[in-house]
Amino acid sequence: DPNARKVIDLYPDYRAKSFKQFDLEMQSFFYLFTRYLAERAKGQDILLPAVCSEWDRINPPAVEQIVAYDSLPEITSNDVSLLNKLAVLKVNGGLGTSMGMTGAKSALEVKNEMTFLDLTVRQIEHLNTESRVDVPLVLMTSFNTHEDTLRIIKKYANQQLRIITFNQSRYPRILKESLLPCPQSADDDKKHWYPPGHGDLFTAISQSGVLDQLLADGKEYLFVSNSDNLGAVVDHRILKTMAEKHAEFIMEVTDKTKADVKGGTLINYDGQVRLLEIAQVPSDHVEDFKSVRKFKIFNTNNLWINLKALKRVMETEGMDLDIIINPKNTDDGQAVIQLETAAGAAIQHFKNSFGVNVPRSRFLPVKSCSDLLLIKSDIYALSHGQLIINPNRLFGTTPVIKLGDHFKKIANFQSRFKSIPTIIELDHLTVSGNVYFGRNITLRGTVIIVANEGQRIDIPDGCVLENKLLTGTIQL
Ligand code: UTP
Repeated sequence: DPNARKVIDLYPDYRAKSFKQFDLEMQSFFYLFTRYLAERAKGQDILLPAVCSEWDRINPPAVEQIVAYDSLPEITSNDVSLLNKLAVLKVNGGLGTSMGMTGAKSALEVKNEMTFLDLTVRQIEHLNTESRVDVPLVLMTSFNTHEDTLRIIKKYANQQLRIITFNQSRYPRILKESLLPCPQSADDDKKHWYPPGHGDLFTAISQSGVLDQLLADGKEYLFVSNSDNLGAVVDHRILKTMAEKHAEFIMEVTDKTKADVKGGTLINYDGQVRLLEIAQVPSDHVEDFKSVRKFKIFNTNNLWINLKALKRVMETEGMDLDIIINPKNTDDGQAVIQLETAAGAAIQHFKNSFGVNVPRSRFLPVKSCSDLLLIKSDIYALSHGQLIINPNRLFGTTPVIKLGDHFKKIANFQSRFKSIPTIIELDHLTVSGNVYFGRNITLRGTVIIVANEGQRIDIPDGCVLENKLLTGTIQL
């Protein structure tokens, strides 16, 4: 049926993709799988990039490989036109499984009833109107997130901002023991497939035709970031640096804190800058990898890519990225693996690539419900879709919030807070056990609430807690 062969990008399932597209996807998967088999044949338990077998040759990045943000050139009015050569891409194929989400994470309401996607749209609309430029928003979706994404962006159809979507690949999960694919046919259940990581972006943007479309529109630079990173706004100084230094790839990195020791880092390997992820590090070097002294920075996944260079790499050497094996268990308890790749690993394929050490404010992701509470709270205000620290907050730091396992899943979080407490004067909050918060609560200083096994604590409406430790059943 010739109609069935039409590429329809509107529906997430296989039937709506053309046979040609499906075929291309399976070829890419097969290529990745073959690379995996070749590595396995070398007898390694986990797949390590070749560099890891010679740990002594892995060094922290050289001084010129990480440029300080403050040293970047200042912007003049002449630089505004550069923005017309820019497109912004959000990798938006993930579900946010660690927060118990089953739909697109970017469809979660984060602030003032707006989702991550709504806020991103506002940020770029503002940039376009303020600077009178035309920066399109490109969204990479997956079969898991496509419908949610379209539902949200539909309402922006008549606005000035151009939104382009393309669907990333859908690869078959592999049974760990037999290495056979889980799906039995091309239209087998969703649970047998997975989106193969944000490193798939390069294949997907090329195969969908979006790369050519952007180039034809005169776009030269692509700013990529995670859809849940609200700090990843367009930065003119980095864009200008990209153009002036003819950099083909820039990775924004930021200083590691204790909480980030597992984040991917840049390394210097024989003078070449490369990304190293913890999943690729042999166990006897993990402590070395995590050391804040040796590897001071981590990857924010804010990436700036020269589109012509991307086209060249795809057409010549190809974009082989280090394979990350993601082990999972199916609902019926079978061990499976997913072969994935990370976008930042592409840095090694580009010329004049380096890291820029940016302020922490450019890395503001929501990885847990504790992060979500902070972002929803009065600690942050919104300005054209961008989060800014409430000027009434003293010292400009944010409170440390640790919500326990009862708040881990988004549905639990939502049912346990009748409304988001006022926390402008909070320094530290720890909540553990079966705790419920009423309406209009104020938390100040250090507040620790612990409901022991079998107990439940209800914080009543309107309650003010200042430097309080609450345990067991409470009388307020
Ligand atoms: P992560 O998978 O690292 O983090 O995705 P996450 O979104 O917090 O998800 P969980 O909780 O670990 O499941 C980082 C970014 O990459 C996108 C995600 O949508 C997110 O914006 N991503 C991830 C893709 O676009 N495709 C993928 O295959 C995986």
